[in-house]
Amino acid sequence: MRLLEEKIISEGRVLSDQVLKVDSFLNHQIDPFLMNEIGKEFALRFANEGITKIVTLESSGIAPAVMAGLYMNVPVVFARKRKSLTLTDDLLSASVHSFTKNETNEISISNKYLDEDDRVLVIDDFLANGQAALGLVEIVKQSGAKVNGIGIVIEKSFQQGAEKLKEFGFRVESLARIASLSNGEVQFINEKVG
Ligand code: G4P
Ligand code: NA
Ligand code: NA
Repeated sequence: MRLLEEKIISEGRVLSDQVLKVDSFLNHQIDPFLMNEIGKEFALRFANEGITKIVTLESSGIAPAVMAGLYMNVPVVFARKRKSLTLTDDLLSASVHSFTKNETNEISISNKYLDEDDRVLVIDDFLANGQAALGLVEIVKQSGAKVNGIGIVIEKSFQQGAEKLKEFGFRVESLARIASLSNGEVQFINEKVG
């Protein structure tokens, strides 16, 4: 997605060979115009999947997921990383280990918001090793619903996540695919256009 790549080039900061900082439009401050376009693009790409619900993970997955939900006209449910005071009964949970942060989080969604006949689109902001996406898939599976696609805003293609998810048979659509962050430079995977 051209607009997103341009934004990454103009505002992203390469922190290391592994990590891209995009705090000015995705992970801290949020650019609503860009999120709107991102939502539109996800809706377009998954238009033929009969999606009935979007599932994401707090916090940075929520903005793109909500915009996609708006264009697809489906509800958005986000998995929580912390125990909630009010969210107590009938929880579906999975354990997500972050290699980047070297920590493990229990993520959960109330069983109330996933039905076995749901066709789910999983959305997240970043795809690195795929642990968050796999945790969300695991939760959807527990509800009896089906994952019909995985939508990612920024895929770091040099890490294992995308490959792993595709090996499991999932359709993965990433709006920006980064081949490398070496030498302080963002290198995108060249997508064939047209
Ligand atoms: P994985 O799920 O693909 O295995 O990713 P990983 O554990 O490595 O990611 C842990 C957190 O770091 C996630 O956010 C993920 O989105 C984020 N992350 C991973 N790589 C990058 C990167 O290069 N740049 C940025 N900006 N973030 C990255 P989180 O902890 O869930 O944060 P948030 O959603 O609450 O903002
Ligand atoms: Na995230
Ligand atoms: Na349910």
